[in-house]
Amino acid sequence: MTRGGSVRLGVAGLGRMGVRHARNAAATRRVELVAVADPDEARARSVAAELGVAAHTSVDRMVGQEQLDALVVATPPPTHLPLVELAARQGVHVLCEKPLSHDGPAAAATLALVETAGIKLQIGFQMRFDADFMELAEMIAAGRLGRVFQFRASLRDATPPPRDYLAASGGYFWDGAIHLFDLARWLVGEIVEVASFAAVLSDPLFEELGDVDNAMVVLRFDSGALGLVETSRVAGYGFESGIEILGERATCRVPGGRAGGVDVYEPGEVSSRHMVDFLERFGPAYPRELDGFVDCVLGDESPRIGGADGLAAMRICAAAVASHRTGRSTSVASVGW
Ligand SMILES: NC(=O)c1ccc[n+]([C@@H]2O[C@H](COP(=O)([O-])OP(=O)(O)OC[C@H]3O[C@@H](n4cnc5c(N)ncnc54)[C@H](O)[C@@H]3O)[C@@H](O)[C@H]2O)c1
Repeated sequence: MTRGGSVRLGVAGLGRMGVRHARNAAATRRVELVAVADPDEARARSVAAELGVAAHTSVDRMVGQEQLDALVVATPPPTHLPLVELAARQGVHVLCEKPLSHDGPAAAATLALVETAGIKLQIGFQMRFDADFMELAEMIAAGRLGRVFQFRASLRDATPPPRDYLAASGGYFWDGAIHLFDLARWLVGEIVEVASFAAVLSDPLFEELGDVDNAMVVLRFDSGALGLVETSRVAGYGFESGIEILGERATCRVPGGRAGGVDVYEPGEVSSRHMVDFLERFGPAYPRELDGFVDCVLGDESPRIGGADGLAAMRICAAAVASHRTGRSTSVASVGW
């Protein structure tokens, strides 16, 4: 279906992530970005004009008219499953932003359709394409750390996203912590039990939305190892996402937010530059993620992060939310889907 070794791609949703994906796609070898879609017509037209592609206000029409090989879905989470299904029915491969969905049984049904349609589905956990995290994964796989005893990961935003985004996000576990649950599974293995502590500390808006702005989740892995995932929407100083893995032979730390390597020493003060947001922190990971997806579309391999990974991360979110609500540690198996 792909033509001449390049992928005809469309991007659905042109907010913070979709615009980034569209610009990356336009600059990616082996990708022909042909169209973008967003119900906000002015936004669709402006991004389309910038990148020299067709504008649509409906993904349905874009997929129907543009003979796409692949689609990037960067819309709010409640729209992900219908758009993945729309693409699957037309034999169009999908790179879908996280979370795949908030609804486990519905996601499982969509994955069955994806399987039957034979399309490739990659989930947008771009952290797996961060160069430092990939090096860490290789070191663990090569046995350099020995057995892993502890995993710690952080995710901190300087300021929260807008209210509309928060309202559709499914809450902080599904929107933020999910990245770290996926990293934990990838680097250390399956998670069997979680215990969450979460709070609203910055703004009653989170309470109003039934959400939280700070959360810590303790993990127990199938291997017996322990983990801690810590997240904050309101860190103020900038963006940070780092990891520490403690193993029997070595411990590795990936600092998560420092920008550049220059320290400035002034009388009474040493300073260094810090990343401002996730787009800066994971700037190089997004094109690598897209490139990995293109490899799968053009070749025989399966996506590094498939639908089953998307569903597994969702299950951990559901257990983390249940633990927060009940005040009890919760087994992931108790989620029931
Ligand atoms: N991987 C990451 O680092 C990362 C970071 C932020 C957000 N995300 C995810 O990306 C997705 C989008 O987040 P965002 O921050 O770009 O949101 P956003 O609110 O900035 O943008 C969403 C866009 O989707 C459009 N849209 C809504 N319904 C649509 C539909 N049916 N068809 C086409 N377009 C539609 C909206 O008009 C808007 O322009 C979410 O799933 C979010 O969780 C991922």
